[in-house]
Amino acid sequence: MALTHPDVPHHVAIVMDGNGRWATRRFLPRIAGHKQGVDSLNRCVRACLERNIGVLTVFAFSSENWNRPPEEVSGLMELLALSLSREVPRLNAQGVRIHFVGDRQRLSERVQAGLLQAELSTAGNHRLIFNVCFNYGGRWDIAQAAQKLASRGEAITELSLDRAMALAHVPDPDLLIRTGGELRISNFLLWQVAYSELHFSSKLWPDFDDAALDEAIAFFNTRERRFGQTSAQVNAPDKKPNARIA
Ligand code: IPE
Ligand code: IPE
Ligand code: MG
Repeated sequence: MALTHPDVPHHVAIVMDGNGRWATRRFLPRIAGHKQGVDSLNRCVRACLERNIGVLTVFAFSSENWNRPPEEVSGLMELLALSLSREVPRLNAQGVRIHFVGDRQRLSERVQAGLLQAELSTAGNHRLIFNVCFNYGGRWDIAQAAQKLASRGEAITELSLDRAMALAHVPDPDLLIRTGGELRISNFLLWQVAYSELHFSSKLWPDFDDAALDEAIAFFNTRERRFGQTSAQVNAPDKKPNARIA
């Protein structure tokens, strides 16, 4: 049963952690956990659509994940290529627009072409914006934004940096979920989570189901978002706090 709470977060970001442990517990190779993770992601996209969430941003491969054993890295690259060809028709049928966020230069030309093709073929969809962070790091994002401004000779301000970031096409996440039990950010959206509500789930990502998502949304709805103001200010009629940079 989908939640119908009016305060469903507009933008949900997820660190999809725990695939490796899910597989190891079943005496399976780690890549089997990553494959199961793709199924869990498909289910999560459908759940976001059912709940009228506007933006879903997921962490699929970090700048630091290159440091894993070469066979796991190549397995993840193959899984990305395979998922692109398999899932794009479904995303189109669901009205989902996909964006890949991260440094593409280190990816093979074939994968880069696949990412672009997926973005172009879903560009007309409006039901859900789906950002897949791949070869992404929060530090990379801040540095690339600053480099972009410097190369244009533009002043570096909070607003100009914000507009040069890789997620400038969406508002900041309202809710950040991390599965897998770790209480850390691991270089995900460092700039954009300044005022996100943080929810840590002990479920491993392949086990993260609709009920777990609803639990995270219910948690979100218990929070009072003050953005630096006092509770009295936030609750005054006609006052809506907002962390966006003016
Ligand atoms: C997250 O799951 C997926 C990626 C980092 C690609 P992990 O592979 O980190 O799973 P654990 O943390 O080892 O269980
Ligand atoms: C974060 O998970 C990256 C992704 C989920 C893609 P990690 O498993 O890489 O994070 P650490 O190494 O435990 O911090
Ligand atoms: Mg992990």
